[in-house]
Amino acid sequence: MDIKVLPLPVDMKKDKIKDETRLGFGKLFTDRMLIAEWKAGNGWCDARIQPYAPFVLDPACLVFHYAQEIFEGLKAYKWDDGRIAFFRPEMNARRFNQSAERMCMAEVPEELFIKGIEQLVALEQDWVPTAAGTSLYIRPTMIAVEPVLGVKPSEHYYFYVILSPVGAYYAAGFNPVSILVEDHYVRAVPGGTGEAKTGGNYASSLKAGLEAKKKGFDQVLWLDGRERRYIEEVGAMNMFFVYGEKIVTAPLDGSILSGVTRDSVLKLAPTLGYQVEERKIDVNELFDDIRAGKVTEAFGSGTAAVITPVGRLCYKDECLQLTEGKVGKITQNLYDTLTGIQTGKIVDTFGWVKFIE
Ligand code: COI
Repeated sequence: MDIKVLPLPVDMKKDKIKDETRLGFGKLFTDRMLIAEWKAGNGWCDARIQPYAPFVLDPACLVFHYAQEIFEGLKAYKWDDGRIAFFRPEMNARRFNQSAERMCMAEVPEELFIKGIEQLVALEQDWVPTAAGTSLYIRPTMIAVEPVLGVKPSEHYYFYVILSPVGAYYAAGFNPVSILVEDHYVRAVPGGTGEAKTGGNYASSLKAGLEAKKKGFDQVLWLDGRERRYIEEVGAMNMFFVYGEKIVTAPLDGSILSGVTRDSVLKLAPTLGYQVEERKIDVNELFDDIRAGKVTEAFGSGTAAVITPVGRLCYKDECLQLTEGKVGKITQNLYDTLTGIQTGKIVDTFGWVKFIE
């Protein structure tokens, strides 16, 4: 599909980044965006790169009432030789369409998804930051824009991509976060939408997150929705627990997100000499194992969160400290290797990195 490039008027050009070390996450957006439309009977049409601008939408659009919406998150990095590298974009394209299928939305052709992002980022490459720990975060999104109040799949969608130069997701940067195991609210149930990257999953996590924040935690760790016993994920991250030289994470059983970084950690860790295991993790056994010193580190993984060390983990009335509040050795090794591959400092033997063609 041909993507039209509309002119960017001079007065729509934004000021460039002033200080790359103070970007934060998702607060600043670049000059242009990609948009394409899908209509029942017509398929995809009108793909264009245009100036970044607000939408004018009918207040009856299905997305506003019944949350028919999906999104993705991936990153681009500017290497020292000036090339722009993407990390496993085909995984995001595939997961986007899995989410689309679950939410009864139109599938986006992989070519439109990947080539569209490449073309947009090529035009916006001056916005890719280069300071340590920064990148260009790419947010592909699809929303249902048919204006109708009956509950049904939309017959009109916008697929769009916006770009945001970012630093660390957590304000503390690459430092251990404090996590509360949530024993009241649940994020997902078997047969629900937990595996889909859809806005509703994040909206329904807000109450627990807010209550945890008031108690001084950065995030909540969800338990399974049936027994409230097995570790699932932390909304913005999959979770890993380090048992000596073995790294354990929850299996993909339909209610957690199939993380690209999760998959990368599972493939990378054995090459660094660690064993990996995907298994159900009972929260009571986990706490026994932390108390007994068998669990030596914990960390989360995600595109935004990269690899985030966990320093304090609390469940009901008990708080346990891991790695004395420091970054664990294995967590650091995985972080350095993964970000090294993404930024071209370490050779990519996996074929994960893609450049703009
Ligand atoms: C990502 O890691 O890309 C996500 O979409 C998580 C989001 C909560 C920032």
